[in-house]
Amino acid sequence: MMRPRNGERVMRAVCIESFRPAAEVVVSEVATPEPGPGEVRVRIAYAGVNPVDWKICQGAMQAVFPHRFPLTLGWDASGVVDRVGPGVSRLQPGRRVMGYCRQYGTPVERGTYAEYICVPEDLLVPVPDGLSLKAAASLPLPFLTARQALIEAGGLKAGETVAIVGAAGGVGSLAVQIARLQGARVLAYSRPGSEAYLTALGADRVLGNLSLFDADALGGEQPDLIFDCIGGEALSAALERVRSGGRVVTITGEPDVRRADERGVRAERIVAKANRGHLEQLAELCERGQLQLPQIEAMPLEAVAEALGRSQRSAVRGKLVLEVAP
Ligand SMILES: NC(=O)c1ccc[n+]([C@@H]2O[C@H](COP(=O)([O-])OP(=O)(O)OC[C@H]3O[C@@H](n4cnc5c(N)ncnc54)[C@H](OP(=O)(O)O)[C@@H]3O)[C@@H](O)[C@H]2O)c1
Repeated sequence: MMRPRNGERVMRAVCIESFRPAAEVVVSEVATPEPGPGEVRVRIAYAGVNPVDWKICQGAMQAVFPHRFPLTLGWDASGVVDRVGPGVSRLQPGRRVMGYCRQYGTPVERGTYAEYICVPEDLLVPVPDGLSLKAAASLPLPFLTARQALIEAGGLKAGETVAIVGAAGGVGSLAVQIARLQGARVLAYSRPGSEAYLTALGADRVLGNLSLFDADALGGEQPDLIFDCIGGEALSAALERVRSGGRVVTITGEPDVRRADERGVRAERIVAKANRGHLEQLAELCERGQLQLPQIEAMPLEAVAEALGRSQRSAVRGKLVLEVAP
């Protein structure tokens, strides 16, 4: 992200120069980016708030992603194509789009907590008619994560049983639905208060997180796959509860591979990656009304510190998005 020079067009963005607590994050003015070859500039309407944002801010993700300062926060977004660079053929100005926009590890890493972002057009798909930009911003990163964990890494097949831990969260609630669409039996683990929500999403059984630590809680049922969205002790317990020869996929923390080997379990941590085909599937599911969307709350971009703090305290029901220019 470039600092503005004299006379340069500026935009609002949440751009940090060093690691800091989420409570200290503010909106500042930076140079508005211009699209390069193959790039599309999007005027962002809403940006998704994901736990990775406050983790990056505090420096907790350095081992997973390379960071370069100044760094604009934000991973996914919705908006309207505003300008296109040379060689862009698929998306034209005026098109409503959504996408997983961050390209970590590239020389120009841009974030979505900003009025504009320039990204290769392949990172974006059109927002289907009937899906609001507010809802569209809440979906790309959680959907890609859930799909890639269950299908690509987890190899989930029809007729198998999958347990999803942290099922009521942004990723988990989409995972429950993707697993059902895949024809799997779904065991959803959550903290109390989400039973009705998870049943409505299609979970076959809803269990409290504590029952993950109780070998008898499943009455002899053994999941073929456990998808862990919480980490820590829950990840250790998942290695014990999955059937021998089964799979554990986590998105938060490193599994104990020694224990996994002892049990004959394949355990893997994944990091979601941009994938246009997967985003197109998301758009199709939304268009056909096959995805139940979470409750979505929008907060103004200027309230970014409060939004990140709520995500960090797990004080969000459904999904939070930042309203940039609706
Ligand atoms: N590797 C990747 O590519 C990737 C991608 C996306 C997310 N993630 C990570 O995956 C995790 C989940 O992401 P998300 O977007 O789903 O987050 P989220 O929307 O904040 O949901 C977190 C879920 O975890 C549960 N939870 C939170 N704290 C808990 C605790 N102390 N004990 C038990 N349950 C707890 C919550 O349960 P209740 O709702 O029942 O309270 C909620 O369902 C985050 O750590 C995030 O950073 C990783």
